[in-house]
Amino acid sequence: MSGEDAPAQQQKAEDQKQETKTSEEPKAESKPESKSPADAPAASAAAAAAENPPQEEVFTYRSLVLSGHGGYDKVKLQVKKGKPTPKNGEVLVRVMACGLNFADLLGRQGLYDRLPSPPVTPGMECAGVIEAVGEEVTDRKVGDRVMVLNRFGMWQEVVVVLANHTFLMPEGMSFQDGAALPVNYITAYMMLFDFGNLRPNQSVLVHMAAGGVGIAATQLCHAVQDVTVFGTASASKHEAISEGGVTHPIDYRTRDYVDEIRKISPKGLDIVLDPLGGSDTQKGFNLLKPMGKLITYGAANILTGQRKNILALAKTWYNQFSINALSLMHANKSVCGFHLGYLDGEFELVSQVVAKLLELYGQGKIKPKVDSTWHFEQVGDAMRRMQERNNIGKVILLPEPKKEEPKKEEDKKEEDKKEEKKEEPEKEETKKEEKPEEPKEE
Ligand SMILES: NC(=O)c1ccc[n+]([C@@H]2O[C@H](COP(=O)([O-])OP(=O)(O)OC[C@H]3O[C@@H](n4cnc5c(N)ncnc54)[C@H](OP(=O)(O)O)[C@@H]3O)[C@@H](O)[C@H]2O)c1
Repeated sequence: MSGEDAPAQQQKAEDQKQETKTSEEPKAESKPESKSPADAPAASAAAAAAENPPQEEVFTYRSLVLSGHGGYDKVKLQVKKGKPTPKNGEVLVRVMACGLNFADLLGRQGLYDRLPSPPVTPGMECAGVIEAVGEEVTDRKVGDRVMVLNRFGMWQEVVVVLANHTFLMPEGMSFQDGAALPVNYITAYMMLFDFGNLRPNQSVLVHMAAGGVGIAATQLCHAVQDVTVFGTASASKHEAISEGGVTHPIDYRTRDYVDEIRKISPKGLDIVLDPLGGSDTQKGFNLLKPMGKLITYGAANILTGQRKNILALAKTWYNQFSINALSLMHANKSVCGFHLGYLDGEFELVSQVVAKLLELYGQGKIKPKVDSTWHFEQVGDAMRRMQERNNIGKVILLPEPKKEEPKKEEDKKEEDKKEEKKEEPEKEETKKEEKPEEPKEE
């Protein structure tokens, strides 16, 4: 994850663009040039070979590509040609599951500066199996099950990444858990422990408490004794977050969360995690007790609909928190900023955090909660689920094509009945309403 590999990754993205071909495109026909009669047998052999190329020459893989900035339809499923080959220090991973992050929603609208401009494959994390290793890779081998963290490009059936962007998955960990863990848990861990120095009996405010980072942060808070968690989330998710460890769930959509927190804890809080930005950062700062810490790590308030909203951007920017050093000193508070996307040169630091997370995972103290899984062709619906605030936990994308569901026994019986009815004299039947497609909920 070195700083220098960013241009290399950009180059790789460019290379991939060159060989990209949409699945909807008709197959290119090979038209041989006109040849002399003497060339005829060779020409027809060449034409036959072109029509039936050997299997390995037509390796294709599914890839999601952001084709431009805007709504859900801007992410297209494409089929790319040619097997990527790992170079020095790289590995080829067959991807089994990918994570969807809030930043991917921002990236689609052109609001995430760590994603190169379209056309580009988004995706910062995935889990899968190593299929090939490049030279000088000594600590990974073919068949290893790995989690991968990268700046972008992970929403593909196969990916080539630097070996030091991969982390060995423990036995028994599913690919969905592997894809759900890196971004959310590294972020939550570094904020709470590296910046926050969370200790027993402290209190923490977790916004978006039913989301990926929110659930990770709640679980990590309970890795420390007697921590009180205040969590904001839509009301329908309160039961789930209470069961997950939030001590005081707050419905920020109908109540003022600052008033609610002050009622329970008049002195305020020890740590506030702020993923919202704008005026919420100031509110978070005001809620801190002396010696409290505010960690700001997102700007969710700028996302209000499918497309970029200039008004929301202007409002968030106008209300941006700022403080001078003297006031900060008098307040006895600390303000930290965290952005994993800008830690991509810090491989060792991040690896150490992953090692600690896997230890906690092994002890059963943390476990990603998967909200729902969606195949690549359903990426728009997956994004909609997160953006319309319906997810409880992580939204996962699956590269494998969506299969036709095998017919259930009851459906078969229903069909048999219909067949029988066809033979009977016609009766008036009321039409059943068609149900929209539902995700696989975990
Ligand atoms: N700095 C970093 O390195 C870093 C890394 C990862 C994530 N983050 C930030 O952490 C936050 C959470 O990310 P995540 O990936 O875990 O997503 P997430 O929490 O799963 O996001 C979806 C949930 O956020 C809540 N929400 C609040 N404001 C929203 C808005 N304007 N639009 C849509 N949903 C909104 C909704 O739940 P409720 O209505 O129930 O609250 C929604 O279900 C984001 O701000 C993200 O940018 C930062």
